Amino acid sequence: MAQPQAAMYTIQLLDALQETRARTLELVADLNDEQMMGPRLQIVNPLRWEIAHVAWFQEIWILRYLGRHPPILQHGDELYDSARVSHDTRWDLPLLTMDETLSYMQQVLERIIDQTSRADEAPAGIMKDAEGYDESYFLHLALFHEQMHDEAITYTRQTLSYPPPAIIAVVQGDHDSVFEKGPLAEQSTASLTQADASNCATGDAQIPGGKFLLKALSLIMSSGLTRLGWHLLRSQRQP
Ligand SMILES: [Fe+2]
Repeated sequence: MAQPQAAMYTIQLLDALQETRARTLELVADLNDEQMMGPRLQIVNPLRWEIAHVAWFQEIWILRYLGRHPPILQHGDELYDSARVSHDTRWDLPLLTMDETLSYMQQVLERIIDQTSRADEAPAGIMKDAEGYDESYFLHLALFHEQMHDEAITYTRQTLSYPPPAIIAVVQGDHDSVFEKGPLAEQSTASLTQADASNCATGDAQIPGGKFLLKALSLIMSSGLTRLGWHLLRSQRQP
């Protein structure tokens, strides 16, 4: 049996995965088919490819590698493996349609939740540990990778002059609903400055000028999760 504390931690990771997925979908919900592909540019991905790649990444590490399950898609590796599919060909691939993409993403997420919930029932060595990397490691990997791509989708929208994404923002005077879920949960709303409240209302964060490492890798490195950082780096040779 999993220790109660470990089980609680896994539940939090699954909650974070679902919350992040909701944000991913919000970031593209208002875009039409043409915008979901966009122009061929070296510095961005076609968004329909990118969101499917996020799901494929979770499937290959959590369901296939850790869970030993067969692939969901017949040609998924040929379409969505960023280490195999060179960037400039991603606009020309026979990608899943948008409906198929959303269905695939949902299918992967549901199977991850199911697999993780049943981890205690698995035979020894399956769904618990893969070559020294445990379930928590792979859930973190999937979570940070999707959040990294959410940042990429955001700057892709800006690069392509799309309108700001219609993400859920706190209603003025009703900050508690956001703080209950977000990283500011520990912060008293009474201590917020006007600027803090303004930032929450727009969904923007103020970042002081200077050099910083974009993507979740800064968190990974600073927290000592260097193996995870290596996996992300390996997967992001061609993001
Ligand atoms: Fe990626």
